[in-house]
Amino acid sequence: MFNRLAPPKLDPILKVMQLYRQDTRTEKADLGVGVYKDTSGITPVMRAVKAAEQRLVDTQDTKVYTALAGDPAFHDAMADLLLAGTVDKARIAAAAATGGTGAVRLAMELIKAANPDATVWISVPTWPNHNLLATVTGVAWKPYRYYDAETGGIDRAGMWADLKQAKPGDVVLLHGCCHNPTGTDLNPDDWAEMARFLKANDLIPFVDIAYQGFGAGLDEDAAGLRYLASEMDRVIIAASAAKNFGLYRERAGIIMVLCPEGETATVQGTLGALNRASISFPPDHGARIVQTILTDETLRAQWETELAEMRDRVNSLRRALADALRDACGSDRFGFLAEQRGMFSVLGGTDEQIARLREEFGIYAVGGGRVNMAGLTLETVPLVARAVAQVL
Ligand code: LMR
Repeated sequence: MFNRLAPPKLDPILKVMQLYRQDTRTEKADLGVGVYKDTSGITPVMRAVKAAEQRLVDTQDTKVYTALAGDPAFHDAMADLLLAGTVDKARIAAAAATGGTGAVRLAMELIKAANPDATVWISVPTWPNHNLLATVTGVAWKPYRYYDAETGGIDRAGMWADLKQAKPGDVVLLHGCCHNPTGTDLNPDDWAEMARFLKANDLIPFVDIAYQGFGAGLDEDAAGLRYLASEMDRVIIAASAAKNFGLYRERAGIIMVLCPEGETATVQGTLGALNRASISFPPDHGARIVQTILTDETLRAQWETELAEMRDRVNSLRRALADALRDACGSDRFGFLAEQRGMFSVLGGTDEQIARLREEFGIYAVGGGRVNMAGLTLETVPLVARAVAQVL
């Protein structure tokens, strides 16, 4: 039977990750997969995480299953982090998931179960797993225009024109902050307009927030989500703790569903049942680290300091690359890099040009020219700028 299997198509991000690992050159820059790297090019375990883990080692006396939806204390801590009291907790159903990906998958499964006719509207471009997860869960999806590559800003006319095609009950997938891959986010006016539009057209927002704290700050990055939460009856949220807690491999994520109080119990039960049908009980280690940090004053302060350091570093690398490109190109055509936020921006380029960057210069970007700013170092910035000026 297995001889009938076709080799799977490798995700474009994972393909770049693999090619980089195979490259034996010493002068190379990994701007592919979205992981944070420090000045020495490593992805460190955060000090607050180490301390929380130590505390768990010292105090945890069982590893018995939690609950199908994970530990309610984790839900509570994440609700405070994401929503900061903007929503009555009686309106929140939640389940721990296997990372942000697991949360998006649960969201798709929930949408499919609740309304098989719903279409999920997904920005162009987006994180490729969004489309994949909709497809494999059998959820209909359609693209909406989002990014204007000419200006590095939002294609508002295209976005509204496309979203006007949505039918009542459809779901609009939005990036809470640090849009992946464009680094271009909705501004407060856009969020207000979005809330009005969604309400008027009976659409449900689904906010994927995987980079809270990497843009402008923990509260600033969640402001759009909090606004929607305060305005809308129903919001689906998928959140990841992979990036802002550096817990990539622990798979700590959560799905949260805001709904009218009368619906919460059924949604909560459904989320548990969906977990049961795929992983039974969600992983707990990462979730417990997150909850320990968020609920302890000292650890939380330490974590926030470390997260601010990461954010400042990414933002200063953005400025450094924009400056180096201005010098190398003699123009401001990459000036948008300094304005955008989060790990990613899109430099553009054909597949051939991206391959040339990789093969000739050892610079690994994802197709379309997505680059991970957090993969740069002050040493690789000039190298990348020279190569980009030459190739793009
Ligand atoms: C990325 O976009 O590079 C990250 O979210 C990692 C991944 O799983 O794709």
